[in-house]
Amino acid sequence: MSDSPFISNCAADTIREAAAALKAGHLVAFPTETVYGLGADARNPEAVKRIYEVKGRPSDHPLIVHISSINQLDMWATGIPDYAIELSRVFWPGPMTLILKRKDIAKDFITGGQDTIGLRVPSHPIALGLIQEFEKITDSAIAAPSANRFGHVSPTRALDVFTELRKYLSWDDLILDGGTSNVGIESTIVDCLGTRPQVLRPGAITDAMLQNALGIELGSNETGSPHPPIRVSGSLESHYAPIAKVVLDQIPQVGQGFIAGSEIRTPEGVIRLASPESDEDFARVLYASLRAADEKKLDFIVVQQPDGDGIATAIRDRLRRAANGR
Ligand code: TXA
Ligand code: MG
Repeated sequence: MSDSPFISNCAADTIREAAAALKAGHLVAFPTETVYGLGADARNPEAVKRIYEVKGRPSDHPLIVHISSINQLDMWATGIPDYAIELSRVFWPGPMTLILKRKDIAKDFITGGQDTIGLRVPSHPIALGLIQEFEKITDSAIAAPSANRFGHVSPTRALDVFTELRKYLSWDDLILDGGTSNVGIESTIVDCLGTRPQVLRPGAITDAMLQNALGIELGSNETGSPHPPIRVSGSLESHYAPIAKVVLDQIPQVGQGFIAGSEIRTPEGVIRLASPESDEDFARVLYASLRAADEKKLDFIVVQQPDGDGIATAIRDRLRRAANGR
């Protein structure tokens, strides 16, 4: 892979080169602990426009801005509630995105025209190193959606980014290879605009973890939203979908793909795609095994969903949307 024009190893030199590429308006795909992101200078409208082109994503869908630490919160957000500060202290760097009231620096081309901004401090050392280096040479941060085409499965390996986006990237763009993403599904998105935090997209930071950290109940749609509904593309009913049809909790037939916990045996003639040992393992291998089904040109993938709460809730959320097809 290292002889590809897009993929590099991640020595300090490479990080500096990648930060310079971002500053020059190019795109840099980089590993995070959740999934790979497709990064651009969050203050450069032309660069951000290219993210939308490469992803084929509608331009009114907001992007998450990746910052290096809690100290950068004030640069992008205002009116930050105490509970949001507390959450960022406990869970950053990590797989959690906070939705806050934006400051002027966060332009419409980042927020999709909304008055809010999504902020995250990722924990992957290459992501953090890149953001720090970029902040050193600019007065900006890195806007990055997941590095996949709109509606498709997020990438958890550099090669997935390369395979999916090579046609759309240009020679000055880069893909940093940081191995397989350890969490495997996208960050928990927490709406911090109301009196209580509300989870918009479940992830590895679970409701129970948020609640324990704060000692208060979370808000929910049932308790009434304090503001107009906000657009989260990950909340579309069809998303995260491979080409193969995803079918949930059925008995797989001969020739179909099968993803299930390691305790469940594979029926004869069925193509086993993954046998995760735990819910965390399930999240880690899920997207790569959905991609493997497409590489094998399978028509159907049967998934036996994990039950229970914790990260299993987020896995079921993604699987339900994947099963709604493309
Ligand atoms: O784990 C992650 O969050 C990954 C890595 C790369 O950080 N990023 C990611 O980005 O999943 P993306 O764009 O694929 O999904 C982010 C979601 C989108 O559904 C977007 O609509 C929502 O976050 N979002 C971003 N800013 C928002 C805002 N201001 N208000 C509401 N939703 C927002
Ligand atoms: Mg995405």
